[in-house]
Amino acid sequence: MKANLVLLPGDGIGPEIVAQAKRVLEVIAARFDHEFEYSSHLIGGIAIDQCGDPLPQETIDACKQSDAILLGAVGGPKWDDPSAKTRPEAGLLKIRKELGLFANLRPIKLFDELIDASPLRRDIIEGTDILFFRELTGGIYFGESGRSGSGDTESAYQMMVYSVPEVERIVRLAAKAAKQRDNRLTSVDKANVLEPSRLWRSVAARVMKEEFPEVQYDVVLVDSMAMHLINRPRDFDVVVTGNMFGDILTDEASMLPGSLGMLPSASLGDGGPGLYEPIHGSAPDIAGKGLANPLATILATAMLMRHSLGLNTEAETIEWAVSAVLADGLRTADIARGGDAISTEAMGDAVVAQLTV
Ligand code: NAI
Ligand code: MG
Repeated sequence: MKANLVLLPGDGIGPEIVAQAKRVLEVIAARFDHEFEYSSHLIGGIAIDQCGDPLPQETIDACKQSDAILLGAVGGPKWDDPSAKTRPEAGLLKIRKELGLFANLRPIKLFDELIDASPLRRDIIEGTDILFFRELTGGIYFGESGRSGSGDTESAYQMMVYSVPEVERIVRLAAKAAKQRDNRLTSVDKANVLEPSRLWRSVAARVMKEEFPEVQYDVVLVDSMAMHLINRPRDFDVVVTGNMFGDILTDEASMLPGSLGMLPSASLGDGGPGLYEPIHGSAPDIAGKGLANPLATILATAMLMRHSLGLNTEAETIEWAVSAVLADGLRTADIARGGDAISTEAMGDAVVAQLTV
């Protein structure tokens, strides 16, 4: 297969971790006989420094013409000046919007080798493997907002709006993913209180009944879900929910594996290129020191294989290689828990070695 991949290394540790992920893509291409072409473009603080814009038009154009995008991270103290005209994060928000990336996917998968890094007990979390679909471009975060009155009686409001097509498209994506996994989908809402949730629930039920009758489907209220996630996380396979509920639940869930440097994410739209990145930020405290854990970004390349290129075997091979290096006891400083730690590049070497044996 031929694919045109855009790399957006960004700021801080971004260039270091993307460099290791690119090596993984190169060995996968060689092993499975694919032709991947790469081009790197500017985003974030480095783009502000070089062209005064956190998302130059040239980057947007390259992304739109690509098959998939791999992003490192953006931001850092250098660009935190509150009087600045623009911020690195503006580049990230704009690229999501330009590409219509309405679905944010966050897998919460526990690596058995790192089980002791979790704040929860082994018997609760062992075997956890959840894929969240968070709606990313609608709901209360994008609703009309304002204030009225002043002083002691001032009030503020923010509207939550969801439309039928917005619910249909994300439920479809999540249901398709469920079919490739354990065939179970849970929709999370607050239909006992909120009108947009009642719409969400009825639309989701119709889509599931008409288009995915073979997928096991259930609904859970968001407050219950917050409890179930830390009480019985193993019981969930694919979870779909709105923007705000997903924001909160995915942050809660990301603590189950207990290590920020291990978690990838994807943002998908309808058909066009997807954007893949680690969930962590630019880690300015360790940037340039060779300490960063590249595994979240490497796991993001596995998601890219699976969701943008349809290459499931390649995705599983990358995930297997990551498990194998962990099983060998290799750890970067963030997951070493005081034991011996290896560098960013040495971790990249180890994954590449697994893939070339
Ligand atoms: P952060 O995720 O960059 O760092 C939090 C802590 O985790 C730090 O101690 C860092 O050293 C460590 N860490 C993060 N990733 C790591 C990795 N791969 N290996 C080893 N250790 C790792 O979050 P923080 O410090 O709140 O934000 C730093 C900058 O990143 C800010 O400018 C923030 O706006 C930006 N940011 C960007 C995101 C993105 O590009 N998607 C997401 C989150 C934050
Ligand atoms: Mg959040």
